[in-house]
Amino acid sequence: MKKPLRIAVTGAAGNISYTLLFKLAAGEFLGVDQPIALQLVDIPQGMKALKGVAMELLDCGFPLLAEISLHDNPEEGFKDIDYAFLVGSRPRGPGMERADLMAANAEIFARQGKALNDFANPAVRVLVVGNPCNTNALIAQRNAPDLDSSQFTAMTRLDHNRTIGQLGQKLGVNPMGLTGLVVWGNHSPTMYPGLENAEALGMDVLDQIEDDWYKNTMIPTVQKRGAEIIGARGASSAASAAQAALDHMRDWALGSDDIVSMAVYSDGSYNVPEGLIFSFPCICQFGNWKIVQGMELSDFGVAAVQANVDELQGEMDMVKHLLPESKPAQVKN
Ligand code: NAI
Repeated sequence: MKKPLRIAVTGAAGNISYTLLFKLAAGEFLGVDQPIALQLVDIPQGMKALKGVAMELLDCGFPLLAEISLHDNPEEGFKDIDYAFLVGSRPRGPGMERADLMAANAEIFARQGKALNDFANPAVRVLVVGNPCNTNALIAQRNAPDLDSSQFTAMTRLDHNRTIGQLGQKLGVNPMGLTGLVVWGNHSPTMYPGLENAEALGMDVLDQIEDDWYKNTMIPTVQKRGAEIIGARGASSAASAAQAALDHMRDWALGSDDIVSMAVYSDGSYNVPEGLIFSFPCICQFGNWKIVQGMELSDFGVAAVQANVDELQGEMDMVKHLLPESKPAQVKN
């Protein structure tokens, strides 16, 4: 039997984790011959509910689940971990301004970045799901000076999968037949689902859909899907977010068959300023991601990418007091 790999999940008592943890334990992440140890992290007030989740995990009798431990702080929870799913974050409270929300989360992710730096396996791979995820990932990365910039990513895979869902339905094509689409930028309503390079069963997607449907129906649907789901379900997307987190990390660890959207450390590609955590077309191989170069962008796309750059720079300005001096870029990929 292989040695268990250690996976930390924060926000482990929350909604997304209530789906994610069971998928991880069932082997949907690293395969059915890889045992795992789950290190579940929540805040002290979440510990009672977290105990209940741990009981349910035990009650499933998962053969791959070698160990479960519960933690109310990241310093213990991140000890020796190989993978981190940073799902927990502070939701917006009544009367809270966006800047206050950014600042509250910045403190959480600064502490988590330091804990990853000091306690995790130095090769740890980190996915930030908790919003605002791009900027939270940036803060964690900047607070982990001994880790490589490429070890920190944020989740735009749900937006990518949502784009696939919309297109598949419109064209009557199975998701497997859709390739080359990219969600660019920030995980926010500004994100840009770009189809310049997308193909359905090998044929250009943009030749098969009306421009009006693309720009005035599909893009806003993907951008506002989170709010639409809250309106319908009375709760935010949880199962689809868990699936997307799993897709992101599985592809990163085991390789992606096609281009996928991942928010990663910008090396200046596509005129995105170096150091922003920005969603790009990525391909994953041998445990590393790489930004795919040379993808076509229309004038509409270039403007949309720039709007995301502006938004992310604005977010960074709001939290700059929590960003240690920039460390040199060290992208190994
Ligand atoms: P939830 O409110 O059900 O659960 C959040 C959990 O995080 C709670 O158990 C809470 O106690 C915990 N938590 C809060 N602060 C923490 C900290 N400092 N350390 C550890 N745990 C902490 O929320 P849900 O639905 O599970 O969503 C989690 C996050 O994911 C939210 O920020 C949400 O906006 C974000 N999200 C991101 C998506 C993306 O595509 N990037 C998609 C959907 C949700």
